[in-house]
Amino acid sequence: MRMVDLIEKKRDGGVLSEQEIRYIVDEYTKNQIPDYQMSALLMAIFYEDMTDEEITALTLAMAESGEVIDLSSIAGIKVDKHSTGGVGDTTTLILAPLVASVGVPVAKMSGRGLGYTGGTLDKLESIPGFKIELSEAEFIRLVNDSQVAVIGQSGNLAPADKKLYALRDVTATVNSIPLIASSIMSKKIAAGADAIVLDVTTGDGAFMKNLDDARRLAHTMVRIGKLADRQTMAIISDMSQPLGEAIGNSLEIVEAIETLQGKGPEDLVEMCYVLGSQMVVLAKKAETLEEARQLLEEALNSGAAFEKFKEMIRQQGGDVTYIDEPDRLLTATHQIELPAKQTGVVTKLVANELGIAAMMLGAGRRTKEESVDHAVGLKLHKKVGEAVQEGEALLTIYSNTDAIDDVVELLYQNIEIGQTGEEPPLIHEIITE
Ligand code: URA
Ligand code: CA
Repeated sequence: MRMVDLIEKKRDGGVLSEQEIRYIVDEYTKNQIPDYQMSALLMAIFYEDMTDEEITALTLAMAESGEVIDLSSIAGIKVDKHSTGGVGDTTTLILAPLVASVGVPVAKMSGRGLGYTGGTLDKLESIPGFKIELSEAEFIRLVNDSQVAVIGQSGNLAPADKKLYALRDVTATVNSIPLIASSIMSKKIAAGADAIVLDVTTGDGAFMKNLDDARRLAHTMVRIGKLADRQTMAIISDMSQPLGEAIGNSLEIVEAIETLQGKGPEDLVEMCYVLGSQMVVLAKKAETLEEARQLLEEALNSGAAFEKFKEMIRQQGGDVTYIDEPDRLLTATHQIELPAKQTGVVTKLVANELGIAAMMLGAGRRTKEESVDHAVGLKLHKKVGEAVQEGEALLTIYSNTDAIDDVVELLYQNIEIGQTGEEPPLIHEIITE
């Protein structure tokens, strides 16, 4: 097989066979295909698209390019959840203990934040003592004992995707639906998922800026999940404004604690029930989404989900006294309110720009090498559709410096107040087929 022939085939709109795709991924991972040929193929895929069978073959070849986690010694159906990216997205921290508390095993591998999106690992590390590095044996033991553990992603998970993603990043081929779908699904499959729940976000804070693209991505991933023998469901959620009220690491831990205590922001709570219900159904702990939701509501209201969260934190070395007194996590030296400049209704809170503001405060990384400041971030007091008086606080800035003029300017540029405004829909669609 020659790479140049395969590039030509795709360039002319042909369909690559499973064997051809396997060859490309294996040889590229071994550095036997140079970046310039791979770049040409990526651009051909960008323009010519791929069939579901091609995307499935690409997904499985990338999943099998490195370590594939074997979770078969954990009883039950292991359901993983993935969001295509958001701002202030605290759902994993809540969902993991919530669904575990109704008997769904959660063996979760999470990532760190980059750019304006946060990462579950960074958030968990704001709890003193919490360990995200466990051996595979320890990880499996914890899930068997208490149904839940959240750890860092193994370094050798889907190396083909890691290499390809870096190449896509510098060849303007990130934004291709077959490439995004295979990239996400390959990592979920390599992480050992039997079933997958996808949160495909759309709006300013998301990869997919419009609903049509989000819908295509969601349908594509659900179809390839099925072709790869993993039950898959997706929701399309709105990420034009941040989710919940907290953006920042320890701020989001506090938000997760409050939510698990039944005091969470409405949109975040609803998102957790919708995603959680899908996880419970896929794990076959309930027959219908309605029945699943009822189980989850009971677990939240009874305190069982909160107890499960504390158990998870304790098991992974975290100091649970912080969970009982969450204010101790909020150690930023400055808390500065941002007053509204006029009276009206909030019409816009541009999610990605608010994420960038939090990153500028130190909550996120500009590059993979940077470290994060767990204490800083934003706490929103008004969301889109809410009325505000001139001078009233729109949000509180948690900062470890008082040199925040550029952050304040960016925030004002991305919060609009008008005369009328409506709350955007939280969930656009649920896709099960
Ligand atoms: N997230 C991924 O993991 N891969 C992509 O290609 C895009 C978003
Ligand atoms: Ca949040």
